Amino acid sequence: MLTDTHCHLYLEQFAGDINDVIWRATEAGVAKMLVPGMDLETSREAIRLAETHANIFAAVGYHPTDMQRFSQENFDKICRLVEHPKVIAIGEIGLDYYWIKEPEKRMEQRQNLLPHLELAKQVNKPVILHLREENDAWFGAASVDLLNILADWQKDLSGALADKPGVLHSFNGTLETAQKALALNFYIGITGPITYKKADRKREIVAQLPLEKLLIETDSPFLAPAPFRGKRNEPANVGLIADKIAEVHRMTREAVAQITTANANRLFGWEAYA
Ligand code: NI
Repeated sequence: MLTDTHCHLYLEQFAGDINDVIWRATEAGVAKMLVPGMDLETSREAIRLAETHANIFAAVGYHPTDMQRFSQENFDKICRLVEHPKVIAIGEIGLDYYWIKEPEKRMEQRQNLLPHLELAKQVNKPVILHLREENDAWFGAASVDLLNILADWQKDLSGALADKPGVLHSFNGTLETAQKALALNFYIGITGPITYKKADRKREIVAQLPLEKLLIETDSPFLAPAPFRGKRNEPANVGLIADKIAEVHRMTREAVAQITTANANRLFGWEAYA
């Protein structure tokens, strides 16, 4: 059994065949899928998918590049969506210094991230974090800023959330950044680029991360793994990422699937909805 802990199934790329996409995922052994929102509208759409499919769960929040309509009023609505029983995380939230370069806009991202983290603490649900550096660098200001914000936030956490505060989604950073996130008890999300030909450095990093802290995610419709690179991605492809992690960690695909699914169950606490 596999899990896809990050797929944007409400996007227009899936408008024509969403039921086929979900069926193929189930056929491929994907037991559960997590659909994170990117603003108020897509958070609502994520919940709509979760309401109509037993194996889909939702997360809500404002993505750092989708802040155009962020306001107190809209954030209050996000706070109400969180009460839905199938909303099991806050996300996708975080910092993006790739698309956002103006210092004031970056500051705005950091400021808007804080109430999301506060909300997660209040409702005791983990966060799904986006982290992207300028020029897609391995390390830079976004990593520094996010780790500082998370370390600050972590200090005030207690109980279950302190042990499993969230996941660094589609991790593209250095081993040092991953280790700092692990020290704060975060999980690390692995996506399709680990399968790309020239991704040796990425594979070397993943080889050094503990399997018990990894999640496998497609980020559909983006980041399709080889041999589908450049095409539309979908949750049924999550096994290709499991295969690569298995190769890197010298384990079987079954073991990787079982361990990463157990990780997702532990982080999101969604087994009750089997
Ligand atoms: Ni995403």
